[in-house]
Amino acid sequence: MSNVTVIGVQWGDEGKGKIVDWLASRAEVVVRFQGGHNAGHTLVVGENIYKLSLLPSGIVSGKLCIIGNGVVVDPHALLAEIARVEDQGLKVTPDILRIAENAPLILPVHVALDCAREAARGTRQIGTTGRGIGPAYEDKVARRAIRLCDLAERKTLEWKLDELLLHHNTLLAGLGASTFEKEKLLSCLLETAPKILPFMAQTWDILENVNKRGKRILFEGAQAVMLDVDHGTYPFVTSSNTVAANAGVGAGLSPKSIGFVLGIVKAYCTRVGKGPFPTELFDDIGRGLGERGHEFGTVTGRSRRCGWFDAILARYAVRVGGIDGLALTKLDVLDGLDEIKVCVGYECDGQTIDRLPSAPAAQERVRPVYETLEGWKETTHGIQRWDDLPMQAIHYVRRLEELIGVPIILLSTGADRQDTILKQDPFETSLS
Ligand code: IMP
Repeated sequence: MSNVTVIGVQWGDEGKGKIVDWLASRAEVVVRFQGGHNAGHTLVVGENIYKLSLLPSGIVSGKLCIIGNGVVVDPHALLAEIARVEDQGLKVTPDILRIAENAPLILPVHVALDCAREAARGTRQIGTTGRGIGPAYEDKVARRAIRLCDLAERKTLEWKLDELLLHHNTLLAGLGASTFEKEKLLSCLLETAPKILPFMAQTWDILENVNKRGKRILFEGAQAVMLDVDHGTYPFVTSSNTVAANAGVGAGLSPKSIGFVLGIVKAYCTRVGKGPFPTELFDDIGRGLGERGHEFGTVTGRSRRCGWFDAILARYAVRVGGIDGLALTKLDVLDGLDEIKVCVGYECDGQTIDRLPSAPAAQERVRPVYETLEGWKETTHGIQRWDDLPMQAIHYVRRLEELIGVPIILLSTGADRQDTILKQDPFETSLS
C-alpha cells in the first residue's frame, strides 16, 4: 500500500481541497506540510460548503489531521477557522487535530511587515495574500521564529519576543509603519496559549507510527509548483517549497514515505496576484472561463487571471515536482467552446523554446505557441464515467497526457464529491 502526496501543478487554486477530501476517505491521516492560511480550499459536500485555509481537508471526513512543522501557523486565524467549521457542525478536538510542536508561528508583526513591504513596492508588488507568510518563513530561517512549543514557556517567549521585535520594529519604522509593544504581544500570546496548546504534539512520532502500522498517509500540499520558492516564477512566488520533495521535511518523515505523487492540474490556467502568465487571456474567452469557473480567490476574494492550458509549464512542474500522475479538474468549465488552445512552446527573442526561462524579464517576453483542438458542445458537468465524456473531451485529455508525459488518472467534473471519474486509484498504484 502506498501513501499519497497531493500537490498543485500551476499557480494554485487547481481544486486540491476537493481531491484531498475525496482521497481522505481512503487514508488514516491527512497532513499539511507547508504554507499557511494563505491557502484556500473549498470543499462541497452535499448542501455544505466548507472553506478551509489551515485545517487539513481531512477534517471534513473526521480523519486524524496533522499540521506539520513545515507549516507557518497563525494561532488566531486557526482558532477562528476552528470556530467557523464548528459552527457548521464539525467537531475539531485534539483527538483529530494535532499540530507540530516545532511549527513556527505567524504573529501580527508578520502581517504588518508583509503589508508594509507590499505597499512600499508600489508597481512592483508581488500581490501576496497579506497573511504574513513570507516574513514568518524568513524568521524561521533566520532562527528567531517563535514556535508553538515556546507558548508553553513564558521565559523563552519573553526573550524571543525581545529578539523578534528588535528586528521587526526596526524594519517597520523604516517603512513608516506602526511598531509593536512587547507587553501587548506577550499578553495576547499568553491568552491564546491555553486554547492552542492542547493540540500540540510530536507529530513526526505519530506519523512514523502510522507508517509503521502500514496505514495510509495523505500529504496535502498547498499552493503549487509554479509558486515554489525555488522552482516557481520567482520572485512572484510564495515563501515555501511546494514540490513533493518538501512533504517529508515538512511532516518530519523520511522522503521515502511520500508515496505516489498526485499533481492537481486545472483544465485551463489561472493565477491570482502578480507575475508572468504566458497564456493569459484578456478577451471574452478569458472572462468566460473566470465566470463559469467562479475564479475568485477563496482567501482574498480577488478575481483570478485566466488563460489557456500551458503544457510547457505542466510538463516542467511534473519533472521538478516529482509527479507520478495527474488529477485534471474543472474540465466542465471548457464545455461549449468551439475550439480550445493548448500552449505547446514559447517564442522568445526570435527563437522557439520548450521551457520557461528563469529571468523575470525573459519570462515576461515569452509568447505562447498554440495547438488548437476541437471543443465539445455537450455538458461534461457531473459526469462520473470516462466512457460518458464527449469524444472531443477524451481527445483533449489524451493530448494533454501526451504533452505532459504522465497519465491523468482522475478527473473532476464538478465541485461535489461525486463529480469525479477515477481511472486509477493512487493509493493502489505501485511505484516503479
Ligand atoms: P504569499 O504566499 O501570501 O506570500 O503570496 C505570494 C504569492 O502566492 C501571491 O501571488 C499569492 O497570490 C500567491 N498565493 C499564495 N497562496 C496561494 C493559494 O493558495 N492559491 C493561489 N495563489 C496563492
